[in-house]
Amino acid sequence: MTKNEQSITDKPFTTEIKSVVQETPLMKTYYVSFVVQGKIPSVIPGQFILVWIPGIDEIPMAISHVLDNGDIGFTVKDVGEATHALHKMKIGDLIGIRGPYGNGYQLKDGFSIIIGGGIGIASIRLLVQKALQKNPNHLLVIVGAQTAKELLYLEELQEILKPSQMLVCTDDGSHGNEGFVTMILEKNLLHIKEKAGANRITVYACGPEIMLTNLLKVCNTHKLELEASLERFMRCGFGLCGLCVVDPLGIKICQNGPVLNSAVLNELDDFGKFHRDVTGEKYRIDSNHG
Ligand SMILES: Cc1cc2nc3c(=O)[nH]c(=O)nc-3n(C[C@H](O)[C@H](O)[C@H](O)COP(=O)(O)OP(=O)(O)OC[C@H]3O[C@@H](n4cnc5c(N)ncnc54)[C@H](O)[C@@H]3O)c2cc1C
Ligand code: FES
Repeated sequence: MTKNEQSITDKPFTTEIKSVVQETPLMKTYYVSFVVQGKIPSVIPGQFILVWIPGIDEIPMAISHVLDNGDIGFTVKDVGEATHALHKMKIGDLIGIRGPYGNGYQLKDGFSIIIGGGIGIASIRLLVQKALQKNPNHLLVIVGAQTAKELLYLEELQEILKPSQMLVCTDDGSHGNEGFVTMILEKNLLHIKEKAGANRITVYACGPEIMLTNLLKVCNTHKLELEASLERFMRCGFGLCGLCVVDPLGIKICQNGPVLNSAVLNELDDFGKFHRDVTGEKYRIDSNHG
């Protein structure tokens, strides 16, 4: 397979940065037009684009915003060379976009628990909107960050969600509950199960891999289905280069993911342990590689 059927372009589409919003001290949202030859992208929540920063690199970014006119937005955390270069770019500067790529979350019937940690909240934003339209009475959103300053889209989420639909936590307790999202989930699970009644509960999540591995344990213990979005180094974005493969199933995160369900996650030896570098060589996540 050389092409992703869902993408409207596999070649970088050059587009101007239309606006930039400073979301948190380290995170900015960029809005660009993504109408390619008259085609407006149809985006499934959880899908991503590859963003080409001229002269620097091309990096994957979750699509966090979709506007009616075909503009899309993505929120970037400044963590390294490419994201830092992007953070320096201004309205009118040119970048390249291709995609959308990946499978996205498959929002199911029943009760949805949508969890975002740190910059992972960007990946779940569109899913929250979709779940609100589909089944607002069976929805709980849990967002967490290290500190209050890094809670992404907090005001917007508080506007669109009722207090009963949202839990907020920070590692240091500077906003909301003190602790990790997994702790908050477990603490509230009895109440959530009462609210869900006979409905099946599915957890959807994106965040640091340590958060996702702990979440999988919680979901396994309490027999909840999990859909988690994983991050891996990517080059082609549509299944050719093999840099994003996770073992032992040979899953390509760009194509078969980035969202994987519990059944698959439980089989992955690499999950929570290994990533691949630019050469495809594996390294332990905690090894400070590269
Ligand atoms: C499907 C997918 C969707 C993504 N969506 C988003 C998104 O919406 N917003 C976003 O900001 N990022 C997102 N990412 C991650 C993003 O692609 C990386 O942060 C980016 O490629 C880092 O490039 P860099 O050159 O700035 O950093 P590098 O120079 O590659 O890395 C610099 C340092 O930052 C560390 N680092 C790299 N990536 C991360 C990370 N994700 N988190 C924390 N530390 C990191 C490295 O370990 C290294 O120490 C996504 C990744 C994938 C696979
Ligand atoms: S990024 Fe090339 S196969 Fe996934």
